[in-house]
Amino acid sequence: MTKNLFIKTYGCQMNVYDSDRMADVLAPLGYRTVTTPDDADMVILNTCHIREKAAEKVFSELGRVRQMQAKRRASGAEMVIGVAGCVAQAEGEEIIRRAPYVDIVFGPQSYHRLPEMVARATRASGEAVLETDFEVVEKFDQLPHTATSNGPAAFLTVQEGCDKFCAFCVVPYTRGAEFSRPAADVLAEAQRLTGAGVVELSLLGQNVNAYHGEGPDGSDWTLGRLIRALADLPGVARIRYTTSHPLEMTSDLIAAHRDVPQLMPYLHLPVQAGSDRILQAMNRRHDRDTYFRIIDRLREARPDLALSGDFIVGFPGESEKDFEQTMDLVRRVGYAQAYSFKYSPRPGTPASALSLQVDEDAKSERLQRLQALLNEQQLAFNQASVGTTMDVLLERRGRHEGQLVGRSPYMQAVHVDAPDHRIGQIAPVTIRAGKANSISGTMSDRFDEDAA
Ligand code: 5AD
Ligand code: SF4
Repeated sequence: MTKNLFIKTYGCQMNVYDSDRMADVLAPLGYRTVTTPDDADMVILNTCHIREKAAEKVFSELGRVRQMQAKRRASGAEMVIGVAGCVAQAEGEEIIRRAPYVDIVFGPQSYHRLPEMVARATRASGEAVLETDFEVVEKFDQLPHTATSNGPAAFLTVQEGCDKFCAFCVVPYTRGAEFSRPAADVLAEAQRLTGAGVVELSLLGQNVNAYHGEGPDGSDWTLGRLIRALADLPGVARIRYTTSHPLEMTSDLIAAHRDVPQLMPYLHLPVQAGSDRILQAMNRRHDRDTYFRIIDRLREARPDLALSGDFIVGFPGESEKDFEQTMDLVRRVGYAQAYSFKYSPRPGTPASALSLQVDEDAKSERLQRLQALLNEQQLAFNQASVGTTMDVLLERRGRHEGQLVGRSPYMQAVHVDAPDHRIGQIAPVTIRAGKANSISGTMSDRFDEDAA
């Protein structure tokens, strides 16, 4: 009997990947994913703990799901409720205490055991199942080898966890210590994905460029080495990776940007702040000059590299002068795209205990100024594309009839008029307009196709 599974995913791309794997492990039990929770036999909230009142959002969402559960029960049906991800890892006990109608609470390293947890939960013991162990190796070994993909571009987790311990960040506590999957496993998963029509792989890891996996010959493989091996697989047209730490930007990875044509000219390389004093307080372990030098080397290797980053404003102790240093860094680097956030104290992290927290108004004002600058840079980057012709991976239908949406090599969203059968292809597009969040153009090979 098929059952309906609804998964709501919060946060990062790793969570998107994890949600797909949860669907994979539940498929043999008859679960198929649906897009609304109302008629779901199981609802899973895959949560994120990185910023702002994450737990509160989960509790209010759970309140809504509980009402749906009650409705279903009134009509004699069941609804299993699960909470997954980083909030589950960090606050599992609290969730069970405050939301006793939740059946299963499990962290990012436990979802391969979902079938067993579901069985335990539905044995009507009335007691919630809590799984928050850190057995990453076991998880990857036990995931089914039937990776699903939802289009021509897919995520592939190669690394998990983080040993960097930036003072503001919960990741080392929720995702655990760094773990790299063996290269052979990654290559096998890549082959399964290309077999299913995937042409672009985004390699994922909280600290992906710290990848050090066991190579097929037993030696230690870096991310650069892994990328070269992936590029040699038939069908892999594009490779990306995210998220990286500046200090792990090694020479062989920089060289891969020069040598591997499949490695796309776009890099998300968060710096977080531009002031040396704040970088040190954040425990980022590098200064601004080191970051500039890395950017210079990357641009030498790949002159058209588009950069993206993450920024935090209002870290404890950040003065107006410190913040100006962030603005200065942004002006000097020039970003094609970026994410910026107000600092939010995360329970259990060293920075949350610091005195000199910056007041909310100052944070908001700085964020506004930073975002105005970043938006300006993004628009300028998109407008500079106008008139050029670039390869676009056509990923899915657009909002308008006859329109497809794809990605440029530089990660820009591209709108283009093209027939549906071109989804999955990489086609040359001449860019006609650049807006704040996307560019649009016309297919340069359309004429040939029409004539054919
Ligand atoms: N407050 C604000 N932003 C944060 N990030 C991580 N932790 C915090 C926090 N406590 C941001 C960082 C990171 C991105 C994923 O989220 O910029 O790179
Ligand atoms: Fe968090 Fe990234 Fe720092 Fe690791 S490197 S602690 S994931 S911000």
